[in-house]
Amino acid sequence: MRQAGRYLPEYRALRERTPSFLDMCFTPTLAAEVTLQPVRRFGFDAAILFSDILVVPLALGQSVTFEAGDGPRLDTGALGRLRPHVDHGKLEPIYETIGRVKEELPSEVALLGFCGAPWTVATYMVAGRGTPDQAPARNFAYQDPQAFGRLIDRLVEASSEYLVRQFRAGVHAVQIFDTWAGTLPPVEFVRCCVDPVARIVNAVRAAIPGAPIIGFPRGAGTSLPIYVRRTGVTAVGLDWMIDLAFAAAQVPSGLALQGNLDPLVLRAGGAALDVAVDTVMAAFTGRPFIFNLGHGILPDTPIPHVEQMLARVRAS
Ligand code: CP3
Repeated sequence: MRQAGRYLPEYRALRERTPSFLDMCFTPTLAAEVTLQPVRRFGFDAAILFSDILVVPLALGQSVTFEAGDGPRLDTGALGRLRPHVDHGKLEPIYETIGRVKEELPSEVALLGFCGAPWTVATYMVAGRGTPDQAPARNFAYQDPQAFGRLIDRLVEASSEYLVRQFRAGVHAVQIFDTWAGTLPPVEFVRCCVDPVARIVNAVRAAIPGAPIIGFPRGAGTSLPIYVRRTGVTAVGLDWMIDLAFAAAQVPSGLALQGNLDPLVLRAGGAALDVAVDTVMAAFTGRPFIFNLGHGILPDTPIPHVEQMLARVRAS
């Protein structure tokens, strides 16, 4: 997830030599190298494309910058004059990165593409930055539902096309990150998160029949079953807060679950990490399951803790 590279010295070394984070995302040789780094070091079963969810607003004509240690900044003044359709020319280097990664990735390792869910991307577009409670976007959705709906429509179309092109460039599956799904009341959760993601899933599958799509509605809680039922995702990523017995019981058994180790217990390590890994592994026996964290790895996570986790998962 978003901080994935920063715990690796090989990522930090490349990052220090590149002027900005977005330059890394849009330089195929660098982005491909960073995508491959964790697979080379740890032999993971899958790689995730190195990019960011905020390249979509960029391709819709909103300027995006990343200040060191300060997160993303977007030009909210541009909201009223966005391009009606995404500029795929801007996203071309990302499709080229996928091709380069595919050439070097061992054939048994899956490559995941991704985009942000419309709601999560909209929270950054409306506020112009990350916010603790997504209040600017929630206000906008309440006060001007029509303008908000138009923004979501544009993001649904842009994200669907973006994912289809990622598939055509060679990714095996995609993940839709709805990082800020958890701050919405249930009715708003359906309007802002479930419906737009359902539309993306339909549009992508119309172009790529059977496309494998992982949803990640972080903080969905008791709304998880409705998300899974209505979006039609192939698999669902679980955050670390969810009750595993609830998730296992409420999500149909043929549907894959992914997750959900607390990134903080990975950073903590020791006996607590072993217990947490065992708990996750035990909760999902007998159904399709992808071991993962419940959110992004923390930048100060010690590498030996990652090795400890992997050894335990692989031995179980
Ligand atoms: O794991 C990976 O490196 C894969 C690529 C990836 C990144 N961002 C790279 C990145 C992915 C899948 C994302 C998704 C993303 N980006 C999300 C959804 C998932 C999540 O983690 O919640 C969100 C909300 C973003 C937006 C974003 N990008 C923020 C808020 C930030 C700042 C983070 C911070 O703590 O400073 C980023 C920057 C970012 N995206 C980095 C990376 C590796 C750090 C950039 C750096 O090297 O300084």
